[in-house]
Amino acid sequence: MTDDRILEKGFNGLASAQPTLPASWYFDPAHFEREMREIWHRNWIYLCRADSLSAAGEFRTFAIGSQEIVVVRGEDAAIHGFFNTCRHRGSTLCTEETGRFDRRITCPYHQWAYGLDGRLLATGRMRQVAGFDRSGYGLHKVAIAQWGGCIFANLAGADTKPFDDVFGSELSFIASWPMESLVVGHRYSKELACNWKIFWENYNECLHCPNIHPELCELVPIYGRGIMARRDDPQWHEFAEDSTPLRSGGLREGAQTWSMDGSAQDELPGLTDEERASGQRYATLLPSIFIAAHVDYVRIVRLVPLAPEKTGLTAEWLFRPAMLERPDFDLARITDFATLVMEQDGMACELNQRGLKAAPYEQGVLMQEEYEVFLFQDWIRESLGEARLSPPPESRASRRRPVQAKPPKPA
Ligand code: FES
Ligand SMILES: [Fe+2]
Repeated sequence: MTDDRILEKGFNGLASAQPTLPASWYFDPAHFEREMREIWHRNWIYLCRADSLSAAGEFRTFAIGSQEIVVVRGEDAAIHGFFNTCRHRGSTLCTEETGRFDRRITCPYHQWAYGLDGRLLATGRMRQVAGFDRSGYGLHKVAIAQWGGCIFANLAGADTKPFDDVFGSELSFIASWPMESLVVGHRYSKELACNWKIFWENYNECLHCPNIHPELCELVPIYGRGIMARRDDPQWHEFAEDSTPLRSGGLREGAQTWSMDGSAQDELPGLTDEERASGQRYATLLPSIFIAAHVDYVRIVRLVPLAPEKTGLTAEWLFRPAMLERPDFDLARITDFATLVMEQDGMACELNQRGLKAAPYEQGVLMQEEYEVFLFQDWIRESLGEARLSPPPESRASRRRPVQAKPPKPA
């Protein structure tokens, strides 16, 4: 159920102006630690593609704020996740970002050795001592989930919610895309001088699009109206059957995908006509990634909070392997486009962050089109144990689904 006072049914926009989060939440170090604890250490976080750990013993290490983890392909071919900390006296186990263990994970300090499944196998030179049972000192486990060839970790321990319960509905929106069979063909990384929430807020609205993204607005005409989807327009009922891109949210006439000239060089198998024609579909897996799915490729954009005012951004472009081997494949024609858009967004995010510390600015205001920003901020409030301003909404995907039929006329 949605709250009609703020979120109307059918029309996506806010019915009344709403307050933003407090300004200090974007730079206060104590608040940053609170969000790391309550949000980043309690949700499913994207780490990497499963094919980057192809053989038994291959590992990668990651930091989610203060928490370092190691993810390894076991001898049973399963992916295992552990805190990167030895159970003896707490040394870091693995100091490399990536590599391959030779069947054992050995602590560099006193050589305790663990199996790839985390069991403690040996205690170096130490003699046996009363009161020590090896079986109680396996590595501390981290929950791992896999979807579409992506590996996710969750540090919430016993409080971990099943991955499908959290993301199943959102991912159903891009279920036709053959994610598992795609491989990374290009990466882009950048450090942004902004709080991680600023990135998501910018992602969640298109009011900035006409000003910040002229090239994108030419490709996706509805963005040029400062909105993201058909039902963001209060008059959408009048145009419910208008399939022109300006109303539907599709790409400009003749364009097939997000690329420099709008042309696609491949067509992924398994997509419906509607999906092929959609131009773009997004799945948003808070707090760490969004997935942009196009007719010919997929882009995964990942955030890592590095400090209250510093965020790491990585984008991965995924293609069919055969495409990357084609001599006439023009990778840059695709990757240059979203890189341009991400550079523009990065600049806007940093601009936003810089202004937040003005002493009299304690809080801002959200306007009609900023409903996704509002919902994101309500999710933050709820995650931190604060009161929501509105009951939880229907799924994000449901606000994006195309309109199938004209709404019934009022009696
Ligand atoms: S801290 Fe790892 S073996 Fe001593
Ligand atoms: Fe943008």
